[in-house]
Amino acid sequence: MLPKEVKGAQLGQIMRGFASSLGVRCEHCHVGEGPDLSKFDFSSDQKLTKRTARVMIQMVQAINQNHIAKLAELEDSPQEQVEVTCMTCHRTQAKPLMLGDILAETIEKDGIEAAVVQYRQLKEKYYGGFAYDFSPGTLTGLGERLAAGGNFDAALSILQLEIEMNGESASIYFTLGGVQARAGMREEAIKSYESGLELAPEDWKPFFRQQIERLRNP
Ligand code: HEC
Ligand code: HEC
Repeated sequence: MLPKEVKGAQLGQIMRGFASSLGVRCEHCHVGEGPDLSKFDFSSDQKLTKRTARVMIQMVQAINQNHIAKLAELEDSPQEQVEVTCMTCHRTQAKPLMLGDILAETIEKDGIEAAVVQYRQLKEKYYGGFAYDFSPGTLTGLGERLAAGGNFDAALSILQLEIEMNGESASIYFTLGGVQARAGMREEAIKSYESGLELAPEDWKPFFRQQIERLRNP
């Protein structure tokens, strides 16, 4: 897959790039273990991950050469193009999953309490790194998704967790009010919109007033 002339230091650099992009060591893809790389059988294709990596190398080449490269034809004065790399998707994880998707799967399999515990553990371990987005928005988005699927209890727990983790904000109260309104919790919804109204910048306030008005005079 890689050109024949790629060897030595250059090959080592590419391989270390794979390892750091996926947050793994050489043995994730190669047969061998421990610190003595001379005992590894690097040319073996035994591991599925190595064969998967070949498909990935082809995919990344195709994205850059067949798709990204075409953007230059659309631009009057071609910009320098952003190259897609393993890190673009993997963000230091073997399986490049988003935090919201991981939690959604846990809610589905083991329930909301397990997901709340999992969020805390992931934050403890990964906060400040590149793997997961703990900023405001991830839990809000997950809460909206759960509510859209009719799982209001889980949605409300996730939005409470967002407030606990990232603090109060106009936008979290806007989402919370919307979910409560859809769950038939009119009084709670009005309270949330009122809390949001206090925190909102001037140009957002009309949106909160409109929702409060609508709930008071259905
Ligand atoms: C994500 C999977 C992955 C990781 C992690 C990885 N490699 Fe590789 N490595 C590959 C693949 C795929 C090839 C074959 C590329 C090809 O077919 O051209 C390869 C080829 C090699 C080769 C050439 C083997 C040959 O046949 O001559 C060496 C040497 C090597 N890797 C060393 C390393 C070292 C050292 C590390 C750790 C720093 C490492 N690799 C980490 C996937 C990986
Ligand atoms: C466009 C996004 C994207 C890019 C870029 C990308 N990957 Fe992946 N990779 C994925 C996805 C998605 C999966 C999970 C596939 C699945 O299991 O369904 C994956 C899975 C893998 C796996 C299997 C991991 C495991 O433990 O099962 C390996 C190995 C891998 N990628 C290596 C690479 C390497 C090496 C590169 C760079 C040459 C790369 N990927 C670039 C999206 C990407």
